[in-house]
Amino acid sequence: MTDLLQTSNLTVRFGGHVAVDAVSCSFRAGELTAIVGPNGAGKTTYFNLISGQIPASSGSVHLLGQDIGRLSPSERCRRGLGRAFQLTNLFPKLSVLENVRLAIQAHRLVRGALFSMASSHTALTDEAMAVLERVRLHAIAEQPVTELSHGNQRKLEVAMLIALDPKVYMFDEPTAGMSADEAPVVLDLIAELKADTDRTILLVEHKMDVIRTLADRIIVLHNGALVADGDPAEVIASDVVQEAYMGKELADV
Ligand SMILES: Nc1ncnc2c1ncn2[C@@H]1O[C@H](COP(=O)(O)OP(=O)(O)O)[C@@H](O)[C@H]1O
Ligand SMILES: [Mg+2]
Repeated sequence: MTDLLQTSNLTVRFGGHVAVDAVSCSFRAGELTAIVGPNGAGKTTYFNLISGQIPASSGSVHLLGQDIGRLSPSERCRRGLGRAFQLTNLFPKLSVLENVRLAIQAHRLVRGALFSMASSHTALTDEAMAVLERVRLHAIAEQPVTELSHGNQRKLEVAMLIALDPKVYMFDEPTAGMSADEAPVVLDLIAELKADTDRTILLVEHKMDVIRTLADRIIVLHNGALVADGDPAEVIASDVVQEAYMGKELADV
């Protein structure tokens, strides 16, 4: 298996607080890695460092073997790093369909695949609808983004990500705030994405049943440091995870 993404000694300090502490980890193609740890462990901050939302204090990030540590978030995205869209990246007054179509179009342009916009309009719409069908939003494709429920907004974020066709998928608690009947749609979709062995998926998730079902590997962050990395069953059974989830101090780690 090939390493698609690699962080080496990746560190960020906020004042005196080390939020991510020298995390070295490689993510291989065809693998779904669950990232777990208590609240405040540094999971989201680790994602922010990888996607370029915040600069690292030290250490490096490599994507497809290239150092991307000094690149902007959009340049990292262009190179295949796919972080689930925040709604602030969407055009709120445009429809669900138009947003996805624009994402596919932007992605094409960026990759240099110039083509006739007029003749491809239908093809583009079909493609966008296909993506929306995957997240079960096709029935409300014409709705403006502002009118979507919270759960549907989260699904649209996933649709936008799929439209970008990244090498690395990054999901930070993708079903947070979703109802019990909405969450499976997103989780099934992540399971589908797993089938694509050219990609790697990073998933921050709290629910152990979800992790057991989806993860090929688990890494554990605690106080910003990587404290466990390995086979899901072994990591879940380990003292490190048992104690982290019981909220005890990991004094002996
Ligand atoms: N921009 C920031 N400035 C200062 N402290 C931050 C910032 N972002 C995160 N932190 C701190 O870093 C730690 C890790 O936060 P976070 O990555 O959000 O944890 P998790 O996602 O694992 O719950 C927390 O103590 C948080 O308060
Ligand atoms: Mg978080």
